[in-house]
Amino acid sequence: MILSPSILAADRDNIEQEINELKSFGVKWLHLDVMDGLFVPALTFDSKFIKKIRPLTDMVFDVHLMIEQPINHIKEYVEAGADIITFHYEAQKNPEEVIKVIKSFGVGVGISIKPATDVSEIKGLLSDLDLVLIMSVEPGKGGQKFIPSSLEKIDALKGGEYLIEVDGGVNEQTGKQCLDAGADILVAGSFVFKDKENIKVLKSL
Ligand code: DX5
Ligand code: ZN
Repeated sequence: MILSPSILAADRDNIEQEINELKSFGVKWLHLDVMDGLFVPALTFDSKFIKKIRPLTDMVFDVHLMIEQPINHIKEYVEAGADIITFHYEAQKNPEEVIKVIKSFGVGVGISIKPATDVSEIKGLLSDLDLVLIMSVEPGKGGQKFIPSSLEKIDALKGGEYLIEVDGGVNEQTGKQCLDAGADILVAGSFVFKDKENIKVLKSL
């Protein structure tokens, strides 16, 4: 199991200390939630912030783009230091093109689907993906309640070459359910940052 803490819930003014603490708990991935105020109402940070923190760690930068027209921004996120770029299926008319552009830069590529989007919609794209990100809450903010039907999506996706990542409302109980259903990566924001000892809890699942 891979744990990818979402720094949305971290103290971003003390990000170096936060990252070092995660590191001391053996965390290897960092989930970076980019929101543009268009695809989702909230605005978080952009590629400049990612570029700024890139020298602080060699963790895998797992960038989750909740932005409109992601195709226009791929290069800047690659240059900022993303290792994997995940965009939203709902954010772009031509997802095949976005996949192609991300791959052309030699970084990992993921697609994310919102709770209302059915797995069948991305079936034709799966063979090109390194990762599928199931949103188990409505994208846009942390601290929401896990949507149980996400477990059926994990089950429907399991068995492929790609990694299955779940994002939103992950805690001890829901995290266990996701892993049992076949998830490979758990994203957790509020659960991890309210008490970093919870990293151990999630890793022990
Ligand atoms: C929500 C983000 C998540 C969020 C998860 O749109 O994609 O990554 O940070 O936060 P929690 O774990 O608090 O639900
Ligand atoms: Zn996310």
